[in-house]
Amino acid sequence: MKAFIENLPKAELHLHIEGSFEPALMFEIAKRNTIKIPYNSVEEIEEAYKFDCLQDFLNIYYQGASVLTTEQDFYDLTYNYLQKCANQNVRHTEIMFDPQTHTERGIAFETVIKGISKACDDAQEKLNVSSLLIMSYLRHLSEDDAFKTLNQSLPFKNKITAVGLDSSEKGNPPSKFKRVFEASVKEGYIPVAHAGEEGSADYVWEAIDILGIKRIDHGNNSLQDEKLVKEIIKRDMALTVCPLSNTALQVVDNLKDHPLKKMMDLGLKVTINSDDPAYFGGQVNKNYLEIQKSLDLTKKELYTLAKNSFKYSFLNESKKQQYLNELETYYNYKK
Ligand code: ADE
Ligand code: ZN
Repeated sequence: MKAFIENLPKAELHLHIEGSFEPALMFEIAKRNTIKIPYNSVEEIEEAYKFDCLQDFLNIYYQGASVLTTEQDFYDLTYNYLQKCANQNVRHTEIMFDPQTHTERGIAFETVIKGISKACDDAQEKLNVSSLLIMSYLRHLSEDDAFKTLNQSLPFKNKITAVGLDSSEKGNPPSKFKRVFEASVKEGYIPVAHAGEEGSADYVWEAIDILGIKRIDHGNNSLQDEKLVKEIIKRDMALTVCPLSNTALQVVDNLKDHPLKKMMDLGLKVTINSDDPAYFGGQVNKNYLEIQKSLDLTKKELYTLAKNSFKYSFLNESKKQQYLNELETYYNYKK
């Protein structure tokens, strides 16, 4: 099963680039920028990565991201992640980035986007991994702040495919961002949002009805509401589920109790993703492997999950078909 998962062609649809920042690279970048970080060793960092809830994690995640300063830093961060994709047979990835985490500290939007997108271009050429970018608004900040970010992004519109909504969910409902999502869609961005990770099913309703999102990030708490589940299926929307994130942030107590299989059995379109792999103990293949072991998933179910990852990506139809053919060939040979 391990080899089957490792070689399975797949896409990753829920990944925060700042959450892929590994301790070793963090030390290296902090050192070259002469920035002090509150850890003396990789072991101390790992000790700090124990979380009670989403906010607990976010505090450490924003602190980690604060050493990223130059275009080269953003390039190195992104290329490091894309190399991991190549090693895991992640053929395509849709990368979220949080501009406000950096612009709030005085880093120019241009520095962030240029570093990230240059790494994506190089990875396409050298690693044969395709990618696109999702600009995420931080929901703990104001809608005005999100508008500022939208405006900063416009000169780089050709490098960004979608907009997302992340950070502290409880107390920051999707409706708070109604106008900025409307404006983002007018600019041609595809809307997605984190919803139902810690927030209730009502937040998922708001995300689909008020923001008009095309894909739900996490969505676990949709299961609280049967009518909502039916509606998500009717609209043919996928959920980007992140098993190791869910246990790390105590959204789910134990992987054996993870609702992923239940979601699939209900008819929801599910994908498997790593969210913030440097913080939650594993890249995407580890997420596949651990959830497979815990829920005893079959090769056919793993194939369905990988198929969903391409089908519900934001690639154009011909590129999607190309990857789906690759997956089909693999599955017919290895099942
Ligand atoms: N930012 C990075 N990871 C996140 C998550 N899992 N939920 C909300 N915001 C995030
Ligand atoms: Zn996330």
